[in-house]
Amino acid sequence: MAVGLMDIKGQYTELQERVEAAVLDVLRSGRVILGPNVKAFEDEASAFIGTAGSVGVANGTDGLTIALRALDIGPGDEVVTTPFTFYATAEAIVQAGARPVFVDIQPDTLNIDPAKIEAAITAKTKAIVPVDLFGLPADADAIAAIAARHGLAVIEDACQAWGASYKGRRAGALGDLAVFSFFPTKNLGGFGDGGLVTAHDAALVDKVRLLRFHGSKDKKIFELIGFNSRLDEVQAAILRIELEVIDTWNARRAQVAAWYDAHLPREVRRPAVPQGSTHVYHLYVTRSPKRDAIAAALKRRAVDCAVYYATPLHLQPVFAAYGHKPGEFPVTDAAAAENIALPMHPNLTEAAVKEVAAGVAAGVA
Ligand SMILES: Cc1ncc(COP(=O)(O)O)c(C=O)c1O
Repeated sequence: MAVGLMDIKGQYTELQERVEAAVLDVLRSGRVILGPNVKAFEDEASAFIGTAGSVGVANGTDGLTIALRALDIGPGDEVVTTPFTFYATAEAIVQAGARPVFVDIQPDTLNIDPAKIEAAITAKTKAIVPVDLFGLPADADAIAAIAARHGLAVIEDACQAWGASYKGRRAGALGDLAVFSFFPTKNLGGFGDGGLVTAHDAALVDKVRLLRFHGSKDKKIFELIGFNSRLDEVQAAILRIELEVIDTWNARRAQVAAWYDAHLPREVRRPAVPQGSTHVYHLYVTRSPKRDAIAAALKRRAVDCAVYYATPLHLQPVFAAYGHKPGEFPVTDAAAAENIALPMHPNLTEAAVKEVAAGVAAGVA
């Protein structure tokens, strides 16, 4: 049985009538930029996450850059982050004018290791950008304690973690600001690009709102050098409908993860879920030294799989000037060499999971 990594079409089919009606409403309304759906989605998102406010933006990358700029982070500043994440996390730091400073990850969660952050802090450090990787929140309390000790801001890159939680708080509420992506493959995914910036401080929300629209409240008076980075009205209309079902979709992903946990061979390392956290399994990423053999065995069975961040950020050519070397972040290097993401979406059946598990077993045999 062929098994796909994701199932965007299946998720669409489930909501098809409502989504198509909502899109038609927008098209017929003539209000296609920053209309009622963007405003309503921002309010509904803030209520879901538990923050003072939210601002819809064009994508997660812009959201990160805007969040940094809202804190006046720019040239001469350093921002501590993880090297084991999608490139956009570090790219946004550079887009804001600052320098990313990488810190190794924890071997179990694959998130930034708080125990290693303080050694990377200098007089130039202004913020920490933890990433809630693959749908699991980073250790927010430990990070907040370090940030408080050193007077740093925390911008949570929650792009992969809509609906996850940490000690009773939602992802997106775990830093001073947080950023989401609605790239179509995300758990809460649009039908095009989209993003959201959240903040606890209402004044910061207002500044982010200014920044997303040319630094202007009214298109007549311009207060800041900003961006043209708005969430589309059509995307907001769709996301409002998905927001109603996202907890159910995430619960179905958790069921799929539980089936994997039960059926995968013992030798394969499952994703860790620390006590007090919920994982939303944007991706179900396992680890094995036999990763390449597993991938080959899955391919023979027409089962999709993917390797993430095989070249971690510190070793990317764009950052060659920073002079990083393989071995500098050994936990990251090992994760890059051993990870393999297995099919994960809300519509995966236990039979499909068993098929994947049989392929993995053939690979490790
Ligand atoms: C961890 C992380 N940060 C940032 C981004 C950037 O989001 P976008 O693609 O919406 O710009 C993504 C996703 O693509 C991501 O996974």
